[in-house]
Amino acid sequence: MEGAGAGWPEPVVRVQSLSESGAATIPDRYVKPESERPKAALEPAAATTTEEGGIGGGIPVVDLSSPSDPATARAVSEACRNWGFFQAVNHGVPLELLRRARGVWRGFFRQPMEVKQRYANSPATYEGYGSRLGVEKGAVLDWGDYYFIHVRPPHLFDPHKWPHLPPDLRETTEEYSREVAALCGRLMTAMSVGLGVGETRLQEAFGGADGAGVCVRVNYYPRCPQPELTLGLSSHSDPGGMTVLLADDRVRGLQVRRRGAWVTVHPVPDAFIVNVGDQIQVLTNATYRSVEHRVMVNAADERLSVALFYNPKSDLPLAPMPELVSPDRPALYEPMTFDEYRMYIRRKGPRGKSQVDSLKAATATTAAVDVNVAPVGRKCY
Ligand code: OGA
Ligand code: NI
Repeated sequence: MEGAGAGWPEPVVRVQSLSESGAATIPDRYVKPESERPKAALEPAAATTTEEGGIGGGIPVVDLSSPSDPATARAVSEACRNWGFFQAVNHGVPLELLRRARGVWRGFFRQPMEVKQRYANSPATYEGYGSRLGVEKGAVLDWGDYYFIHVRPPHLFDPHKWPHLPPDLRETTEEYSREVAALCGRLMTAMSVGLGVGETRLQEAFGGADGAGVCVRVNYYPRCPQPELTLGLSSHSDPGGMTVLLADDRVRGLQVRRRGAWVTVHPVPDAFIVNVGDQIQVLTNATYRSVEHRVMVNAADERLSVALFYNPKSDLPLAPMPELVSPDRPALYEPMTFDEYRMYIRRKGPRGKSQVDSLKAATATTAAVDVNVAPVGRKCY
């Protein structure tokens, strides 16, 4: 396996190196089948008008300045039911911390390649500097590099896996993760109230606030000479509990699937983009939806995003909460632990919602429910 890098099926190529080589075309490995290319996507006329078109590029904007106000829980719950995505404003995380987090990670990716290579990751845990998801030999790859780290639980926090430079990266990322994880706690309460199951129910299903896992994936999408042929991140739903994304403050790229079309998100300045992951879809018996999304790249600008994943305790078997199961709406999913679940994406890479679909209970296929809602995709980080 010499040369391939530990555990990878073939040599790892840094997308940043391809981008900086100045080549006018991208290697075949990055060329997506036509049906997956960004232009093939229907950009509905509605994307600029009426429902799809308001502030925030269509996805709802939720003001969190009064987190315990019932109206906040209603707005969060509505967004999780109807979109699976929303932008959170007045979220309580200091804005200066958002700027610092972006700054240290831009600094990381600007370092010389030999410095970054010291942190090269392997598919065993994905922690470190990476350029692909999945280990299928010959797979079509995405136009992006990333850095992935575990923050919690404490036994998964490994300081050796964290970059040493820039000097303030580690402290800033820890502080950022603490604040954003606290925001996730507030969102869990609002989501739980919005389900009518009591304030703490959803968090308890995650194994309590101390049991929840936190990891961070910083995505770096270099400039791409043929952006119409590829994607920065292929369509996927997030495998975990919920995701809080700090999108690039200058460059758009995230698209959310909505009624079969791709809607481009227009981030509101200083907002977070929050989305429901597969585990919340399972726990809520698909009352809240984990929705497919993907990332486009472009020729003019690189793009950086910081995703924080808030996950259930990884060894608990998760199944729909009994309160949300009834004869009319039987349990849609079989129990599975998050540890088992995330192995799938780690092997196969991002593939729409096929993974959560594969969890569907035998009864669900005959139940009178909207099976388009039931799928929980494939994921994995
Ligand atoms: C992710 C993700 C979106 C983006 O990391 O899971 O969907 O805009 N990122 O980088
Ligand atoms: Ni995602």
